[in-house]
Amino acid sequence: MIKTEYYKDLTKMNTFGMKVKARCFMEYDSVADLVDIEFEELARPVLHIGGGSNLLFTDDFKGTVLHSKINFIEVLDDSPCHSEERSDVAIYVSVGAGVVFDDFCAWAAKEGLWGVENLSYIPGEVGASAVQNIGAYGVEVKDVIHKVYCYDTVEEEFVNFSVEECEYGYRDSIFKDPEIKGRYIVTHVVFALSREPRPVLDYGHLREAVAEAMSHSCDPRPRELGHPLAGGGMSHPCDNASDTVADCHFERSGSGDEKSLTPAMIRKVIIKIRKEKLPEPSVMGSAGSFFKNPVITMEHYLRIEAAAKAEHGPDYKVPHYDLPDGMVKVPAAWMIEQCGWKGRRSGGAAVYDKQPLVIVNYTGEAYPEEIIGLERRIIASVKAKFGVDLHPEVEHI
Ligand code: EPU
Repeated sequence: MIKTEYYKDLTKMNTFGMKVKARCFMEYDSVADLVDIEFEELARPVLHIGGGSNLLFTDDFKGTVLHSKINFIEVLDDSPCHSEERSDVAIYVSVGAGVVFDDFCAWAAKEGLWGVENLSYIPGEVGASAVQNIGAYGVEVKDVIHKVYCYDTVEEEFVNFSVEECEYGYRDSIFKDPEIKGRYIVTHVVFALSREPRPVLDYGHLREAVAEAMSHSCDPRPRELGHPLAGGGMSHPCDNASDTVADCHFERSGSGDEKSLTPAMIRKVIIKIRKEKLPEPSVMGSAGSFFKNPVITMEHYLRIEAAAKAEHGPDYKVPHYDLPDGMVKVPAAWMIEQCGWKGRRSGGAAVYDKQPLVIVNYTGEAYPEEIIGLERRIIASVKAKFGVDLHPEVEHI
């Protein structure tokens, strides 16, 4: 079925909560419906959205907004697959583009499948995750993508891209290339998950947080593989994403050993961390990280470090990550905080007080101009203090 609405209010379809309208809005719930859409006849421009969690609408949208409701999770092979490219692969799971990404993470955790637990609670939908290469806590979605299936709106045919063909980078993919942007519509993504434990705990204090949670942890036993969107399966106290580690009544595992970890345990910890640091879109509008973390030369980093030590004392440590190519990634959050922006308000917009990489719709009534004004001033002050150019991660529409 295709649902078409004109002058559609998009306030609830963008997590920033910008009060804008789309001239035309079309929602389809199957691949057959997608094929029926006459792309040549749509009011232009055409924008395909997912959960609207990485967008800043700067005005009413004069063209057509498309949205997928292709919702399924299907295990393609529940016995170990032997892939020439990826010998570690155990289970291929095909997921519709319209599935809420965190619903997929919750499902994988319930099934005891490893791979997406660190990506828990990221807002957005599966189709957009494969375009944006979402990432958190040491994992990017490209690490678990096997293939991305799309509809080519130019050739009017179905195509698929291997993970290599997607040319993934930091929050980047071939689908964001200006030359082909909008041409391919993701219909579903095949993920390569694993039954073999493969916890990724090296990011920040994640290992400590997991160890702490394990001391009073609940071990949701994996069940037989099921199809959650088709119903079935027993529920578990940990199934509810709103639970925190603390309020889930786990039995003490005793061992404190990483071998007894489950994806569900890590998911719990990640959700707790995210809830502490990031605003809930349902409570305060935002689009998650507003800026990308900049990558600079080692020489540039050493100048920043010397200046920081001169300002804060010789023992001061500048957060940074050395990259394999000799470049250095410096958290934009640190630079924005150093420029004094943390918690500052400007009209209806504000820099989030617990994570300054996030700009929030503080009053719920912020105008796009207020968000953009704050963005410009942050960029200018980071450039003036550190000589670094910040680039928004959020797409301005
Ligand atoms: N920091 C500060 N002040 C703060 C907060 C952070 O100085 O108030 C510094 C700290 O040194 C901290 C570092 O920034 O160690 C990194 O902070 P954090 O771990 O919160 O991660 P991030 O680099 O700010 C990225 C992603 C997030 C993702 C987290 C966790 C980008 C643009 N953002 O943020 O993704 O959740 O790592 O992996 O890469 C998103 O994309 O919307 C998003 C939320």
